[in-house]
Amino acid sequence: TPMKIALIIGSLRKASINRKFAAYIASQMPKNVMVEEVHIADLPLYNQDYDDTTIDSYEHVRQQLKAADAVLIVTPEHNRTMPAALKNVIDIASRPYKDSVWRDKKVAVMTASPSNYGGINSGLDVHKSMQMLSAKMMIHPEVYLSRATESLNDDGSVTERTQQYLQKFVNDLVAFVGSNDA
Ligand code: FNR
Repeated sequence: TPMKIALIIGSLRKASINRKFAAYIASQMPKNVMVEEVHIADLPLYNQDYDDTTIDSYEHVRQQLKAADAVLIVTPEHNRTMPAALKNVIDIASRPYKDSVWRDKKVAVMTASPSNYGGINSGLDVHKSMQMLSAKMMIHPEVYLSRATESLNDDGSVTERTQQYLQKFVNDLVAFVGSNDA
């Protein structure tokens, strides 16, 4: 059966290295897995007052996430936390609380950073929020890609060594999305 993965990229910039790794991961998916990006750049800042109203952009991302079998988050770290734009969509999709899209949702996260620490704080932030929201997180393998600019060729493609490294993440993600009891 076809499976759908909603992809959230935590960086808004055009030349994002996280976008490049996400594109590589999407390209490695088997034919029966569709990857659809959830665009977060233009979402108004979450405001609880909006819970009683309808905001088209909020409804759109909530529906996209709701319809997905799993959500893949590929994100940088901003000042030792997850980027604000990523936190914003997590909050938007968590409300109204009884309709939270995260409850029992399968979620996987990877981070990439030019630094030695790989953006791990951002990845652990996502785990923290998802635990609170009762999502089903993929626990292994953890991918917090350090010195990530060294994993990209001049044309923006992923180096062969890092492709091999990411293969296990791709394989485990597909198994996770297909599993019944993750
Ligand atoms: C960063 N960067 C960064 N890197 C890191 O490993 N830990 C951090 O806390 C931060 N903090 C931070 C704050 C802000 C505001 C910016 C703009 C950047 C560097 C960051 O990892 C680098 O710019 C990446 O290239 C961002 O990812 P994208 O946009 O290329 O996907």
